[in-house]
Amino acid sequence: MNPLRVCIVTGASRGIGRACAIRLARDFSDVVIVARNGDALAATAESVDAAGAQALAVAIDLKDLAAPRAAVDRTLSKCGGIDALVNVAGAVPQSDLLTMTDDEWNEGLALKLHGARRLALAAWDALKSSGGSIVFTSGATAYAPTAALGAVATINAAIIALSKAFSERGLVDGIQVNTIVPGPVMTDRRRTMLQKYAARKQLPFDTAVESFARETGISGFGLPEDIATPVAFAVSPEAQWMTGTALRIDGGEAKSA
Ligand SMILES: NC(=O)c1ccc[n+]([C@@H]2O[C@H](COP(=O)([O-])OP(=O)(O)OC[C@H]3O[C@@H](n4cnc5c(N)ncnc54)[C@H](OP(=O)(O)O)[C@@H]3O)[C@@H](O)[C@H]2O)c1
Repeated sequence: MNPLRVCIVTGASRGIGRACAIRLARDFSDVVIVARNGDALAATAESVDAAGAQALAVAIDLKDLAAPRAAVDRTLSKCGGIDALVNVAGAVPQSDLLTMTDDEWNEGLALKLHGARRLALAAWDALKSSGGSIVFTSGATAYAPTAALGAVATINAAIIALSKAFSERGLVDGIQVNTIVPGPVMTDRRRTMLQKYAARKQLPFDTAVESFARETGISGFGLPEDIATPVAFAVSPEAQWMTGTALRIDGGEAKSA
C-alpha cells in the first residue's frame, strides 16, 4: 500500500472542517484546505503547518460549477496525487419547510450535495490510482427530519444515499467511501441553529442551549475534534475494510425506539 500523502478537506476555514484539516495534518504530508474565506483559511493553514503537514489553501466557492475541478487541478499540479477527499463544506439554509424558497433549496443543494458530488467525480481517477478514500458529511437530521429543518434533513439523507452509491462504484475501482453523520457539534452553524431554536421557544440563548441538550438527551455538545478523530480513522489504513458505512457520532442523540 502507498504511504498516505495528500488529503483534500473542504469547509476547512472553521468548525468541523478546520478540526479535520488540523487532525489530518498528523497523518498526511499535504493537506489541501478549501473554503471561500481566504483569511480564515490562512489561519487554518498555520495550524496545519504547525501540526506537521504542508498546507495548500484553495479559496473557492464550491457552489460554482467549475470550482471542484479547479480545486482538484490545483491539488494535482502542486502535490501530484490525491489519497483522501474529506467533504465537510455545507451551509444548507435552516429554514422551515413551508416557507423555504426554491432559491434556498438550490443553494443548499449546490454546495452540500453537488459540490461534494462534483469533487468526488473530479478526484475519482486520482483516488483510483492511489487506492484512496472519500468521506462525505451528512448529519443526524437525516434520520429524524423535522419541519423546522426540512431541507437540512432531506439533503443530509441524500448525502448518505449518494455516498452509498459512490461506495458501490468504489468497490470496483478500489476507493473506500464512507459517510460521517454528526449529531449536535458546537460550531458557528450550530450556534445559529440554537439561536433559531431559542427564538422559537422564546428562551434566552444560554437557557436554550441547556434546554436543547436536555430535550435531545445528549451527553453534551460535541466538539469539532470529536468528529475529526473518526474522520481520521475513516481515511487511515486501519479502516481498510470499512466502506459504504454511515458512521453516526452524536453524543447519544439516537434513542432506542
Ligand atoms: N455542527 C453541527 O452540529 C453539525 C451537525 C450535523 C452535520 N453537520 C455538518 O457538518 C458540516 C460542517 O458543519 P459546521 O458546523 O462545521 O459548519 P460551519 O462552522 O458553518 O462551517 C461550514 C464550512 O463550510 C464552508 N463553506 C460554506 N459555504 C461554502 C461555499 N459556498 N464554498 C466553499 N466552502 C463553503 C465554510 O467556509 P467559508 O464560509 O469560508 O466558505 C466553513 O468552512 C456541514 O456539512 C454540516 O451540515 C454539522
